[in-house]
Amino acid sequence: MRTVIKDGTLVTASGSSRADVIIEEEKITAIGSFLPGFGDRTIEASGKLVLPGAIDVHTHLDMPFGGTVTADDFTTGTIAAAAGGTTCIVDYAIQTPGGTLQEALVAWHKKAEGKCAVDYGFHVAVTDLNEKALNEIPDLVKKGYPTFKVFMAYKGVFQIDDAALLKVLKKTGAAGGLVLVHAENGDVIEVLTGELLAAGKTAPRYHALSRPPLAEEEAVNRYIAMAELSGSPAYIVHLSTAGALRLVSSARLRGLPVYAETCPQYLFLSIDRYNEPGFDGAKYVMSPPLREKGNEDHLWAGLRSGNLQVVASDHCSFNLKEQKELGMNNFTKIPNGAPGLENRVQLMFAGGVVKEHIDIHKFVDLVSTAPARIFGLYPQKGTIAVGSDADLVIFNPEAEFTLSSTEQFQNVDYNPYEGFRGKGKPELVFSRGTLIFEHGEYTGAVGHGRFIPRQPFSVI
Ligand code: URP
Ligand code: ZN
Ligand code: ZN
Repeated sequence: MRTVIKDGTLVTASGSSRADVIIEEEKITAIGSFLPGFGDRTIEASGKLVLPGAIDVHTHLDMPFGGTVTADDFTTGTIAAAAGGTTCIVDYAIQTPGGTLQEALVAWHKKAEGKCAVDYGFHVAVTDLNEKALNEIPDLVKKGYPTFKVFMAYKGVFQIDDAALLKVLKKTGAAGGLVLVHAENGDVIEVLTGELLAAGKTAPRYHALSRPPLAEEEAVNRYIAMAELSGSPAYIVHLSTAGALRLVSSARLRGLPVYAETCPQYLFLSIDRYNEPGFDGAKYVMSPPLREKGNEDHLWAGLRSGNLQVVASDHCSFNLKEQKELGMNNFTKIPNGAPGLENRVQLMFAGGVVKEHIDIHKFVDLVSTAPARIFGLYPQKGTIAVGSDADLVIFNPEAEFTLSSTEQFQNVDYNPYEGFRGKGKPELVFSRGTLIFEHGEYTGAVGHGRFIPRQPFSVI
């Protein structure tokens, strides 16, 4: 079947043009001006933007964490992704203590296979470094898993020590991969947490006090130093503070291949959320925590300047009822994480482009093209070009929306952006040429989403 998307404004990271796009089977086969009747199906897109499908490189679906399992699995999470204009995710397969990296991948493939609405890949989180795990890294890079995550926080759960981090960096860098780090000093957090609990400070807002900006900045500094020492590229996930950004910027100024992502929660929400009435502050218990107002201005500047390259969601949803409530009497028992996969693109358009923090090309770059390039998916994904997958979003820049938990596909009982209003909606979403979302309805088939092996890392 040949589909013509007629007369839309095609927007990529580098420019815009008014043109028609031809889709045949799963690919974009032509871009230009075509006569009516050229396709079996014509989609009128005048007045609409045609965007490359967005890519979310930081999700946690069907993940056991904090004594429970995330509310979204690979079906509900990827349908939510489609509804929000995201056509590819990269999720984290987590090594279990004593287990191999391959076993983690087998487990995560089983969770995802046949259950996804959009395409997917996996990073591997190394939580228990042993010789066997270390030696698996080069082969996994070759097999399409070029990115490995290491946690400098969550002591006693996921945290590994500096020696292990350095070994992972050396091995991964030499194999052509990239190490992604959750940069917070877990030992410092443990001490501060102990002090707060001993003083009877158990409410959700103390989560933020137990993880101050300096705990993040110290870890970012240490990670960059270790990456430089090992001669490997570095990537920091969910960077949240102005101070951490300064460290990344100065490393990049010295020519180091250091990359970082931030997330909508650090751009649109701030620490005062923890003071919401009753237990509602628990909705925002995530790590790093929400920060003081003012940090977001620096993060927007970092996105504009290119010192921050990616906006990912860190989607890790837990219901307020029964899941977040596990920490009703002790903030350390509140499972860390919040939903965002469905809303990332709209937040960045309405809150970023419309509010003039970033232009439309930077927007496409942050949510699609740069993630595709850094994570080895480009040019198969992340752009609109002949030969690329026909992952396309017909986006209405004038349509108004209000975010609400009552109207979402994410399988979770709240929305951290409840009441956020703006303009800009994905109206039609194509995944490899198949129309999977149409005017508010999911029209795809679960199981359409396919595992996408990724290329080794190359400097962008
Ligand atoms: O609080 C968060 N961010 N939960 C998900 C796990 C992680 O640290 O990325
Ligand atoms: Zn993290
Ligand atoms: Zn995460």
